[in-house]
Amino acid sequence: MQEFTHSIRPIIDPAKKKVYIETYGCQMNVNDSEVILSILQKVGYCLTENIDEADLILANTCSIRDNAEQRIWGRIEQFRLQKKRRSGVIIGIVGCMAERLKDKLLDGHQVDLVAGPDSYRSLPGLLEAITPQKPQIDVLLSHEETYADISPVRMDKNGISAFISIMRGCNNVCSYCVVPYTRGAERSRDPHTIVAEARELYEHGYKEVTLLGQNVDSYYWKDPDLAGNDVNFALLLEMVAQISPSLRVRFSTSHPKDISDEVIYTMARYENICKHIHLPVQSGSDVMLEKMRRKYTREWYLERVKKIRSVIPDCGLTTDVIAGFCGETIQDHHDTLSLMEEVVFDSAFMFAYSERPGTLASRKYADDIPYEEKTSRLNEIIALQGRMSLKSNERDLGKVFEVLVEGPSKKNPEELCGRASSNKMCVFPSRGEKPGDYTKVRVNSVTSATLICENLGK
Ligand code: 5AD
Ligand code: SF4
Repeated sequence: MQEFTHSIRPIIDPAKKKVYIETYGCQMNVNDSEVILSILQKVGYCLTENIDEADLILANTCSIRDNAEQRIWGRIEQFRLQKKRRSGVIIGIVGCMAERLKDKLLDGHQVDLVAGPDSYRSLPGLLEAITPQKPQIDVLLSHEETYADISPVRMDKNGISAFISIMRGCNNVCSYCVVPYTRGAERSRDPHTIVAEARELYEHGYKEVTLLGQNVDSYYWKDPDLAGNDVNFALLLEMVAQISPSLRVRFSTSHPKDISDEVIYTMARYENICKHIHLPVQSGSDVMLEKMRRKYTREWYLERVKKIRSVIPDCGLTTDVIAGFCGETIQDHHDTLSLMEEVVFDSAFMFAYSERPGTLASRKYADDIPYEEKTSRLNEIIALQGRMSLKSNERDLGKVFEVLVEGPSKKNPEELCGRASSNKMCVFPSRGEKPGDYTKVRVNSVTSATLICENLGK
């Protein structure tokens, strides 16, 4: 079993070399940046939030849509200005865009360092080898790397909620998605190291962990020494939930084709497993789902929702939707809208389809929905979701929830904010609670984004 003995928060030491890290994209990247910081601290770097004093500037990047990459190209231009002003500054691009573009990022010496998501252990060696004439690159993908033995250095501000990666990569080949190419094949992490990491966080005052994977339902660990003691996602959830009833457990992302009854029943059994499932639907049309290679139908998806709600009536449900996928007809689009109306998701991440080079869709299907049409369908989806979020929140009027206090509300610093188990954001007056405390609240009024509550105390 892995021992986790080290500092859990960034070390600040003015005498040390300084690394500045910008993180783009998903929660997995946020956690990867914490792994990177852990590796760099061991070789004498400390974190800075001030780019002007950084010896090393890293961007941990995202390739999921073209606009994510365009933003990062803009940032690289800014980083190069730093280099002009202060010689010796190193610029590194790591993560998905590094993996996708590889040595193209080195053309014209834009950057000094390129490292893919499975190459973070080699960062110290790469940094040593860099000279102005010799940029360094490592974009090898691995079938084994899970960084299981590396304890991430937490960069979050409040010390209450942390991400834990339980697996890496993805074996699904959704036709629109670049992730299997940038993050490689799926592999699960040793459950003992996951539980040890969660326990250490709890012992350092953290109250909530989110278990991360591209498809958590396919988590599977075969114990080489203990045949028959294999660990699936439901069992892993249970192992983490048993650390303490006051440690909340969340997870993301679930795949509609894989989420099992066992997972749903495990959630129901443990009060501290938060009642929220992020279940990306992508489209409400069977024709689109087939072309997207999602491997489920609209009917299957609706059945999973029904099952979840029959076992966990108040379960929070959120989703991802793509507008204007290849060949999407108005009927397909209306199928998405009608599914959203039927399910009434609490919230959704909604995107216009962006063709990604190398994906199955880019090779097989024309990206044939004009930009204006995609945007107009997306806007319709966003407007509908606004109404659905309000409807979902109105159903909570008068209900009492336990919330984990995060801190002052952003809009009104006189009030506190925190999330209910369902992941809905609650705002309520303070009774002297501190971040990390639990309190009960009653919902008095709602907006589409927030539950406005009275604070009932413990
Ligand atoms: N275009 C638009 N959205 C995409 N997503 C993934 N790939 C694309 C793409 N090529 C969305 C999906 C996924 C979320 C993380 O990003 O909805 O669930
Ligand atoms: Fe991409 Fe599909 Fe894997 Fe999610 S499950 S990362 S959408 S390929």
